Amino acid sequence: MPKLVVVGSINMDLVALAPRFPAPGETLSGERFATFPGGKGANQAVAASRLGAEVVMVGCVGSDLFGRDLVAGLNKEGVDTRHVHTIEGVASGVACITVSGAENNIIVIAGANHALTPEHVAAAEAEIAAADVVLTQLEVPLAVVAATAALAKKHGVPLILNPAPAVHLPPALLDEVSYLTPNEHELSIVMDAGSTPFPDMLERLPGKVVMTKGEHGAYHVAADGTFVHQPGFTVSAVDTTGAGDTFNAALATYLPLGLKPAMRMACAAAALSVTRLGAQGGMPQQDELDAFLKDVS
Ligand code: RIB
Ligand code: NA
Repeated sequence: MPKLVVVGSINMDLVALAPRFPAPGETLSGERFATFPGGKGANQAVAASRLGAEVVMVGCVGSDLFGRDLVAGLNKEGVDTRHVHTIEGVASGVACITVSGAENNIIVIAGANHALTPEHVAAAEAEIAAADVVLTQLEVPLAVVAATAALAKKHGVPLILNPAPAVHLPPALLDEVSYLTPNEHELSIVMDAGSTPFPDMLERLPGKVVMTKGEHGAYHVAADGTFVHQPGFTVSAVDTTGAGDTFNAALATYLPLGLKPAMRMACAAAALSVTRLGAQGGMPQQDELDAFLKDVS
């Protein structure tokens, strides 16, 4: 059972299902509304826990009903929430999501996620030191990500940074990260590389980047220059929200087996995750993932 620490965001997703995306100024009748637990950090924590990892979550919720439900949801999923803080007088993070034809667009309001501090991360130093892998994203302040990277490095624990939503990252931070897991668009923003073709971007950071490309799978250029492509798995998609989070969680959970097998598990888990509505909806349990891989091979 690998031990993971996830430092990141916790949101309530407010999801509207619509026949298409509304144009600016347009009011459109939707088909369905539902709230789902989300946030890239929490999604990654839940996905890893379902795959059998022992997961400690470090994050913040607000002192509202969403916050209470989100923490209860994490507990129910077997995630250790002792480092999830409830911030008085602040609203929980929310994401307003429109889903149409399995595609989505998302507006995130950070709320309590922005109250997460390097001190909160320092309070989890013992857990980070004992972890097999640390996982983080960019829905919490960059100072928190930097503090997480520094602590992981101090204790020699591999760190996966999922640079989403993407911003240009300082080279010093990139240096401290073991693996960076952007999609193609995010990689170009992180590296400030404009429309450079992705194989060239990967070559600029050999050994570091595992780039996802939707149903095409994942790409990596190893430290020795070897180009690795893990093809994606074909499924019928209902909602792609959280597919990237599932990918990251599986990559972290299976990383102790080696990067290549972990990329395969990650692509398969991400494929399963899109077959149900909600970010955490289709995230597989370990036995579902094993059964799926048996079926396709
Ligand atoms: O990656 C998907 C997540 O991004 C959603 O759950 C939403 O909360 C946003 O943070
Ligand atoms: Na889903």
